[in-house]
Amino acid sequence: MSTPADWRGVATEDDDDLSASASSFLRGRSRRLLGELLRPHRRELWVLLEVILVQNLAWLAGPFLIGVGIDVAVPALLDGSGGRADPWPLVWTSAAMVAAALADTGLRYRFLVGSGRVGQAVLLSLRRRVFEHVQHLPLSFHERYTSGKTISRLTSDVEALAELLDEGLDGLLTALFSVLTIGVVLLVLDPPLGLVALLGFPLLYLVSRWFQRNSTIAYRRTRQTIAALIVQFTETFGGIRAVQAFRREARNDELHAQLNEDNRRAHHRAFWLIAVFVPAVTMIGNLITVAVLGYGALRVMDGHLAVGVLVSFLLYLRRFFDPLQDIAMFYNSYQSASAALEKLSGVLEERSVLAEPADPVPLPSGPGTAAGELVFDGVRFGYGAATVLPHLDLTIPAGQTVALVGVTGAGKSTLARLAARFYDPVAGQVRLDGVPLDRLADADLRRAVVMVTQESFLFSGSIAENICFGRPDAGRAEVEAAARAIGAHTFIEALPEGYDTDVRKRGGRLSAGQRQLVSFARAFLAAPAVLVLDEATSSLDVPSERLVQRALQTLLADRTALIIAHRLSTVEIADRVLVMDGGRLVEDGSPADLVAGTGRFADLHRAWADSLV
Ligand SMILES: Nc1ncnc2c1ncn2[C@@H]1O[C@H](COP(=O)(O)OP(=O)(O)OP(=O)(O)O)[C@@H](O)[C@H]1O
Ligand SMILES: [Mg+2]
Repeated sequence: MSTPADWRGVATEDDDDLSASASSFLRGRSRRLLGELLRPHRRELWVLLEVILVQNLAWLAGPFLIGVGIDVAVPALLDGSGGRADPWPLVWTSAAMVAAALADTGLRYRFLVGSGRVGQAVLLSLRRRVFEHVQHLPLSFHERYTSGKTISRLTSDVEALAELLDEGLDGLLTALFSVLTIGVVLLVLDPPLGLVALLGFPLLYLVSRWFQRNSTIAYRRTRQTIAALIVQFTETFGGIRAVQAFRREARNDELHAQLNEDNRRAHHRAFWLIAVFVPAVTMIGNLITVAVLGYGALRVMDGHLAVGVLVSFLLYLRRFFDPLQDIAMFYNSYQSASAALEKLSGVLEERSVLAEPADPVPLPSGPGTAAGELVFDGVRFGYGAATVLPHLDLTIPAGQTVALVGVTGAGKSTLARLAARFYDPVAGQVRLDGVPLDRLADADLRRAVVMVTQESFLFSGSIAENICFGRPDAGRAEVEAAARAIGAHTFIEALPEGYDTDVRKRGGRLSAGQRQLVSFARAFLAAPAVLVLDEATSSLDVPSERLVQRALQTLLADRTALIIAHRLSTVEIADRVLVMDGGRLVEDGSPADLVAGTGRFADLHRAWADSLV
């Protein structure tokens, strides 16, 4: 029975898998990815950096000008030169303050707009890259990497980056700048006071280290728990029929409650850390302020320090501690973002083992056209360590219709997948018209070989759109002809909007057999040289299967076909029957020969004939 611990296992494995690094620095591949994403915006980023630098200086001018106001402008008002009040220092100071405030506002606006634009552009290109990349990764990747994980890469991970770019970047840059510049200003304004202020630093450092270390763990936990939640979501709703059929709802609710609780706890811990850290920093800041005020007052009394400078100093001190808290908060966004970036770059690093060859070999009969001769030459294959097909030699001449039969698990689908290059053999070669499949251009391969499986997937859109999936340029007449040829026309016409019926909205109205007919029409319209049908007729009732068989016979006349069927009626239209057992071909002959013989096919045929009586 699966317990919540299993789910935790999922999440942990997820992290180990792509080793979300807990270190606070980006690892090589993450840094490379970030560099690639930012490179197109180099120029704008430099501009933004300058903007924020100047904006910070304008912002920093405030306390300094207040100090000048107190030390120079106010005394000048009280008793200017010759006992006459001089308003000009005050006018100049005020004017400078207004100018600084205006510059601060305008530059801040420029920065926010600019950084927002860059952030969105980066996210856009990242999302596109991940989507395009993952879509091209081979089936072996998708079998290992569940769709739940893929979804969390494209949603919560991209989201984490978005958060950093939207809010973090602005605050982080501002905070870093102000902490650095104010630190310098403090030491310049009055070195002894500056040193007193620095006395609080070891304490601040210790508190920050504590926070950093714990929040790394806490944040990793929140990301793991949210990933586990997303995986459970996708599995529950992807398998909603099985869930309801087996009354699995209560158990799923329990699991979900557990995962949710884990997630809540992880977030609670993260919030608690912030709740301790922020007031602690404020507290330290207040203590330092008190110390500075006390020591500063003594220095003012001694006449070493002007009151205005002390005021400036205290105001700067305030501005120094606020961003320190911010930096700590950003550290969390930064943590999630860097973990997300690490996982995303891990996915982007996945190389397609089925990559298109750099220098593809053209088909002998010209691009886009294949004769359809399929050869398995000493093929060995296994999905993992275990070998499924030990050694396979098979030649299917162009135009031949081959039926592949055998018990469950014999390796029929595996052979079919190799023919369509969903996988590459471990040893040996699969060749189409003499060209190994891994030397063919993707376009040639996908044009020449089409595989139709039992789970006929229909995409959002109309029935007509679903039929032209493989040939988007096909006209309505061609679509209808294909549907007519395989016997789908009648039922499609009977739908309320015929070929324009939306399969998603009315998807519930299509039966499994009707869906198969649509995907059949799709394959026929694509008109490949080699058609692989893996139990594609299994949901059809006998009359419509017969209909399809008639259509098959005419349509398969000039193409190579590999048909896998548990029903022997489908096998009868084949030129040749292959019987497979334990990954080996054990019989090979025409249907009539095999029926007349004493082999496995004869047994199967007899059992089938008996069942019809
Ligand atoms: N994606 C996969 N990953 C790992 N092992 C697999 C995978 N697909 C199939 N196998 C294994 O390979 C062997 C052959 O499976 P295959 O699907 O080719 O059988 P089949 O003849 O098509 O069976 P069926 O008639 O039930 O469809 C089985 O032992 C199966 O467990
Ligand atoms: Mg199969």
